[in-house]
Amino acid sequence: MTILITGGAGFIGGHTVLAFLDRGEIPIVLDDLSTGNRAAVPSGVPFFVGDVGDAELVLRLVQNHRIDAILHFAAKIVVPESVADPLNYYHNNTVKTHTLLQAAVRGNVKHFVFSSTAAVYGNPSFTPVSETAAPAPLSPYGRSKLMSEYMLVDARAAYNLRYVTLRYFNVAGADPAGRLGQSTPGATHLIKVALETALRRRSYMSIYGSDYPTPDGTCVRDYVHVSDLARAHLAALDHLRDGGESRTLNCGYGRGYSVREVVDAVRRVARVDFEIRQAPRRAGDPASIVANSDQLMKLGWKPELNDLPKMIEHAHNWEKKLTAGASGIGIHQRGHSVSVHRTMPSRTSRLHVQAGPATARTKVLRIHRVDRTKEKLDWIAIQLSGKFSIGPGMFSFALGVHLSKSNGTAA
Ligand code: UFG
Repeated sequence: MTILITGGAGFIGGHTVLAFLDRGEIPIVLDDLSTGNRAAVPSGVPFFVGDVGDAELVLRLVQNHRIDAILHFAAKIVVPESVADPLNYYHNNTVKTHTLLQAAVRGNVKHFVFSSTAAVYGNPSFTPVSETAAPAPLSPYGRSKLMSEYMLVDARAAYNLRYVTLRYFNVAGADPAGRLGQSTPGATHLIKVALETALRRRSYMSIYGSDYPTPDGTCVRDYVHVSDLARAHLAALDHLRDGGESRTLNCGYGRGYSVREVVDAVRRVARVDFEIRQAPRRAGDPASIVANSDQLMKLGWKPELNDLPKMIEHAHNWEKKLTAGASGIGIHQRGHSVSVHRTMPSRTSRLHVQAGPATARTKVLRIHRVDRTKEKLDWIAIQLSGKFSIGPGMFSFALGVHLSKSNGTAA
């Protein structure tokens, strides 16, 4: 029997794929690559590009691969984006989960692990919040997930399907071994944004709101390491396989950090200072939300990476890889021309940037040419910044390259 992981090329789904592989189970992955990255999934894992809202495709996968468990990660997850475009969120997160569930029931799938969110609580009346608190989401994102939770409860009552819903708190960090991290372009999450600023890929970052009823006026969140969260999915599935009843469970560490505390921790880990701007509150943000995860621990989940600086360090290592070197970015100078190569398995893209006069110091580099291989490749350089100086016998360059999504193909 096989596990189907939807959204397995994304940040949390991808780490969960690794957690299963680490214990010797090979899942199959379905991902539409709208935010995921084909390269996130190791070769050897059957990979299908497609939409969880495609009922025929899902049913075919379920039947052909004898799927007995679905772990459903594929979703849109950005709170402010959901406020700006709620119907898109209800379509992606609620309507498509309904289609997936229907295919699961038709295909006689027994177990379902669902990625939900602390956003279903809104501003809880006390914290740490436990699963018995009444949900009161503040954003369409939270509501889109809560509706799916309700569907699961009703499906459990009517069909032969048991589930665990995991309500994630703020997920951060990266694989400690450096295999994976958060790669989504244009990410909005606090630790990622702060690290991009520390690495000079942004010139400053904003803190949204400083008048919340919290000790320093900024929002408080419970940051959980993505690899610990991935292992929570193993515990959830094992519970179901052992015949355990359906559950809805929080996943966090039970300790909150304010936005300012996180930013200071990023400065310490990255050993750089960077500019912070105070900005107005962001729509849909609760003031403070911290998990009581006692129930998940009773199920056998043991956090191993409950350490904010470590979490930031792992994410920092990943961000550095994304910026250069290990992710395959090479920089070469010939005369005043600088070429930047980004190489990934089976594909190469090359940018040429034109430098200024020999002694120039500038922030703006002009993209001279973009070469693409014959392969179907959809990379676009959307950000190229950095200071450089060229003098006799000397060349130094700091670069931020941001490439948009790549088009993957089914393995
Ligand atoms: N923040 C900033 N500046 C930034 C980015 C974020 O000040 O550049 C602040 C936000 O306003 C918020 C806090 O940092 O107060 C955390 O924001 P994130 O965007 O990192 O995360 P959210 O709390 O909005 O949401 C995340 C996930 C949701 C999940 C929620 C659970 O995206 O899926 O955590 O608490 F539901």
